[in-house]
Amino acid sequence: MRVAILAAEAVPYSKTGGLGDVAGALPKALRRVGVDAVLITPLYLQTKGEYLSQVVMDDLSVDWRGQNFRARVFYSEANGSPTFLIDAPEYFHRSSIYGFREDYERFAFFNHAALRLIERVGAPPDIVHLNDWHCGFAAIEIAKLRRWDEYWQRTRTVFSIHNLAYQGAFGMDELWKLGFGDDFSRNAFSFDGSASALKAGLADSDMLSTVSRTYAREIQQPENGYGLDWLLRQRSDRLFGITNGVDYDVWNPETDKELPAHFNAWDLSAKMECKRQLLRKFLLPENLDKPIFANVSRLTAQKGFDLIQQVIGEVLATGAYFIALGSGAREHEDFLQKLKDFAPAQVGIYKGYNESLAHQIEAGADIFLMPSRFEPCGLNQMYSLRYGTVPIVRAVGGLEDTMQNFDRVNGTGNGFKFKEFQAGKFLEKIYEALFAYYEPETWRQIQRNGMMTDNSWENAARKYVELYQMTRS
Ligand code: ADP
Ligand code: GLC
Repeated sequence: MRVAILAAEAVPYSKTGGLGDVAGALPKALRRVGVDAVLITPLYLQTKGEYLSQVVMDDLSVDWRGQNFRARVFYSEANGSPTFLIDAPEYFHRSSIYGFREDYERFAFFNHAALRLIERVGAPPDIVHLNDWHCGFAAIEIAKLRRWDEYWQRTRTVFSIHNLAYQGAFGMDELWKLGFGDDFSRNAFSFDGSASALKAGLADSDMLSTVSRTYAREIQQPENGYGLDWLLRQRSDRLFGITNGVDYDVWNPETDKELPAHFNAWDLSAKMECKRQLLRKFLLPENLDKPIFANVSRLTAQKGFDLIQQVIGEVLATGAYFIALGSGAREHEDFLQKLKDFAPAQVGIYKGYNESLAHQIEAGADIFLMPSRFEPCGLNQMYSLRYGTVPIVRAVGGLEDTMQNFDRVNGTGNGFKFKEFQAGKFLEKIYEALFAYYEPETWRQIQRNGMMTDNSWENAARKYVELYQMTRS
């Protein structure tokens, strides 16, 4: 089976969040179960030069907005699978990966160029696997091409929702410039008075998936459907939840190059050294008996940081540390600064994006806070599990599916989970976790339960293969 995966970001070439982790790892996992998978992604200014040694095409011809556009294509296998990186400086050599008024145009171009690249490279793929709104354009283009172009006759599309909250909205008037002026396309994109690339992908891909089973159910409800729940209900026989995996080549405390010391489920002793070094890094006193609470996230409403703000004073009152790595909403960044000023010997903050620090925090912390309002899957809780850092999560989306609340009687469960989005409920779990933390035997048990949890990509890859096969039925 030949599969081309399109994604706006992919590790190690680019990343702003979990989509990058997933798009980088899935093709490799698919290859391991026998799928001929290739990845296609843009080449950004932020993509490290070390991945760009090989130009495979310097004349990819793309008819675009009435002109003939020539793009270069680089090839790399740095993520463990064949990857084509489309180089169009005008669109992708910018100060950040996203955040421009014409993002819709940038990714429409990416989709269009990716399809030209596929045509140039060889036989038609069985599946084009699209991810998030950035790839909604290709779903429509392929649906149209299939009507008359022999090359695309047998190709089917799978669209994966990583986050329904981002919809890629723009003015309907822009559609004709992007080559989508016909009625079929206008219908597909039209949503709530605007054009939505996400809606187009959901409306006309052959199969839909999202990144956990619970989120697949949640987005069919008006509360979490962002106005698209009706469409997801309508297509529910084509919508499946497949929980993301963890790339244990990258996130493994036994081998992680970012860590000062290594450990595993059987011998956790070096985790203490990671903790010491983490405290040192943040210039905090090295009181190793006290637990470190941690958070690594995009500071958006999704992540429930407001709930952390409400409880963190009480956490610090117990003498614990709090270490946070994140960037995003101004109010949350300001709060972190105030917290640091208020308790400089207990709080460590890093405002920004820092890959190695993310690994060091996962390894050195004791407890990971993830009280998300919604969470399609969530990767940080799974990374925490492998690093012996016990997550406290809200029971939504992928957090519900990947976490089991600790049960004292049976010794089962890999963390702590609460339901209502209330500071009181969150605090209850925080105190329960603290109580367990001060019972070393109990704590080891929870850590081990988490470290032994198998979240490898293989399971997910096999489910994607089934999904790909279902596009034929
Ligand atoms: P989301 O994709 O919604 O942000 P996930 O939990 O799926 O949430 O994935 C987040 C990914 O981004 C993880 O790999 C996490 O380590 C990383 N990450 C988030 N914020 C930062 C940051 N400030 N610095 C480094 N890595 C970060
Ligand atoms: C999105 C979601 C996150 C998920 C990630 C990868 O960014 O917010 O929950 O883990 O995509 O699928």
